[in-house]
Amino acid sequence: MNKPVTTANVQPNDLSQFWMPFTSNREFKAAPRLLVSAKGMYYKSHDGRDILDGSAGLWCVNIGHGHPHVLEAIKAQADTLQFTPSFQFSQPLSFELAQKIAALTPEGMDRIFYTNSGSEAVDTALKIALAYHRIRGEASRTRLIGRARGYHGVGFGGISVGGIPSNRKFYGPLINGVDHLPHTHNLEKQAFTKGQPEWGAHLADDLENLVALHDPSTIAAVIVEPMAGSTGVLVPPKGYLERLRAITKKYGILLIFDEVITGFGRLGRSFAAEYFGVTPDMMTMAKGLTSGYVPMGAVATDNKIYQAFMDESPDGIELFHGYTYSAHPLACAAAMATLEVYQDEGLFQRAADISPYWQDAVHSIRGLPNVIDIRNIGLVAGIELAPREGAPGKRGMEACVKAYEAGLMVRVTGDIIALSPPLVLEKEHIDKMVEITSDVIRALD
Ligand SMILES: Cc1ncc(COP(=O)(O)O)c(C=O)c1O
Repeated sequence: MNKPVTTANVQPNDLSQFWMPFTSNREFKAAPRLLVSAKGMYYKSHDGRDILDGSAGLWCVNIGHGHPHVLEAIKAQADTLQFTPSFQFSQPLSFELAQKIAALTPEGMDRIFYTNSGSEAVDTALKIALAYHRIRGEASRTRLIGRARGYHGVGFGGISVGGIPSNRKFYGPLINGVDHLPHTHNLEKQAFTKGQPEWGAHLADDLENLVALHDPSTIAAVIVEPMAGSTGVLVPPKGYLERLRAITKKYGILLIFDEVITGFGRLGRSFAAEYFGVTPDMMTMAKGLTSGYVPMGAVATDNKIYQAFMDESPDGIELFHGYTYSAHPLACAAAMATLEVYQDEGLFQRAADISPYWQDAVHSIRGLPNVIDIRNIGLVAGIELAPREGAPGKRGMEACVKAYEAGLMVRVTGDIIALSPPLVLEKEHIDKMVEITSDVIRALD
């Protein structure tokens, strides 16, 4: 007999069926943190409390919650056209949105491939890199290089180039022929730096060693987050990205910036590429593209990459890749409206303007117990706590829970508290974030 399709048996307090991602299910389900609505800078919790959003949801709600312009665009789209395939068909908005995105990407990087998430954007970029070399007769370039502590989502490509041990270690050998650069973080040399550290540009030179080891003719691409977010806010040392760019260029290796976090104003510019003045060959994006209102990701490629496929492919499909929901109409509508909000409200500049206040505020936490580093750039900050002896990550998780209880959402990686609020915040929100975070840190043993 078919099971009846009904909600009649749903029990509001039964949390057992949803296997939650990147969550300690056992702890969460014993003491859930459920959010039921949101507006502007605040979530509302299921027990009726206002929770200040210190993490833009998950690094994505850059325009703040419940923005009427985006909500209206999504509703209007839903009333008109809910789905079109984008294999061999499409809808006008997908092309208009690509123009709008291309207007924000660096000069010459204006070909846009749509995905549904950051993970898919990363795997797409890696596949384009491999196919690009092959199509131009350099099929030996198959090696991909990531970086220790890098986070590039959870696809097999992304975890292969990623460098967060717990995300990789259960999944076997992953993609062959991947290598990693060292990460750029060093507490001894960089602790409590405001903005970009002076020390560490030379770490990019490790790429020369990998090139010598493997031979440039085997290397397809290097992928890095210009600022590593998920691993706990690692700001690139001055000159580091410039060196990576110079070395990749010298050896014909593609450079991919994973801008899933850094895109759309997080650093006070459209993209980190613009902020740092370093132009890669491809950029991945997601999160801020729609402010998280509807899932969407994308890859922007340099024109030369797109053109190589157009020139060199035999007749027919040039790139055998795509998703059923690539350029989903609701996502396109949400993205288009989100980009309009960024423009109309000048949100990237607003983030840039408030970032000195942000920097001073977060660095005022220095000196509290167990705080071993504070780092910041744009509207991001990482506060690193000393790990508890024999229990790394415990202090961090307790900080996350206590902050929530005190009315603040933060993101925690291990013992690092990351703050990355919506770009619409006011100084009073910054003060409140710092006050709650400080109280929480003081209360931790
Ligand atoms: C730099 C980076 N790349 C990729 C991803 C994966 O994005 P998604 O979770 O949308 O798949 C993330 C998510 O945090 C990210 O920070």
